[in-house]
Amino acid sequence: MSPNRVHVLYSTRRYFSIPELSSESVWMKDRQRVEEILQSMSKDGSNTLQVISDFDLTLTRFSYNGKRCPTCHNILEGSNAISNEARQTLDDLLHTYYPIEIDISRPVEEKLPLMVEWWTKAHELLVQQRIKKDELAEAVRQSEARLREGYECFFDCLHEHAIPLLIFSAGIGDILEEVIRQANVFHPNVKVISNYMDFDESGILRAFKGELIHIYNKREGALLNTGHFEELRSRPNVLLMGDSLGDLDMADGVQDMKNILKIGFLNDKLKERKQSYMDSYDVVLVGDASLEVPNAVIRFLTGNK
Ligand code: TMP
Ligand code: MG
Repeated sequence: MSPNRVHVLYSTRRYFSIPELSSESVWMKDRQRVEEILQSMSKDGSNTLQVISDFDLTLTRFSYNGKRCPTCHNILEGSNAISNEARQTLDDLLHTYYPIEIDISRPVEEKLPLMVEWWTKAHELLVQQRIKKDELAEAVRQSEARLREGYECFFDCLHEHAIPLLIFSAGIGDILEEVIRQANVFHPNVKVISNYMDFDESGILRAFKGELIHIYNKREGALLNTGHFEELRSRPNVLLMGDSLGDLDMADGVQDMKNILKIGFLNDKLKERKQSYMDSYDVVLVGDASLEVPNAVIRFLTGNK
């Protein structure tokens, strides 16, 4: 048998293992490479796996019924916890800075100070609003935030197999936790790195804690959390999920990494961004995808075919 024929048989057999990867809305620059990573990770077993995922527009949907779904910041923006004037200002900020965030024609170095500017202005405004801690749960309940379809299986399966899930978000930790708590999936294997609110003794927002995490400094955020990655030293295989190119740095703190499979959700401006996403993520999911593909990968790696 010629080596080419062997290769074709091998590929067909592998794709039979994860048929979800053959869908038209799954783009891969190098299918062979994806197979090799999956093979290697599968051989090592699920006790060597850790999952690192972004939150906004990765674990949550980008749109629903033609309407944009809210990010953590947008959840507050749409709530009664802030004034109409502040809502308008946050919306203006979003319209100014979001196009910059996703503009691939600008280098990251140029975008970085502008992202710091966006987050700083937004957080200052939220602090001025004197938001109450006990208003957050209601803001989330009233919001249109939606975890992607298949989220129950994603969170429950990782929990069942004791696979650590790090949610690494430039959103707001308190809001993000509330979203997953209300969805009943905030299991003990979930750890969150994000921007957390600091409330005074009467429960009023007075600042944000620690170093600011924005969309393009997740590398620094990862390196500040060495303790977490040290604990997971025995798990050198990583499944990374993100929707921004800045999310690719979330695994920079992982120690002695062996394999990484990067799954990217391309939500917006598909034509312009297709190439850069295909060059950076191993698997690119388009069309406001569900979590079907990550779930199939996890099933494959945990031996639950
Ligand atoms: P993520 O790291 O969980 O994706 O969260 C970051 C997202 O938050 C990013 O896509 C931009 C978004 N964002 C808003 O929607 N409104 C804001 O005011 C700010 C500062 C960020
Ligand atoms: Mg995101």
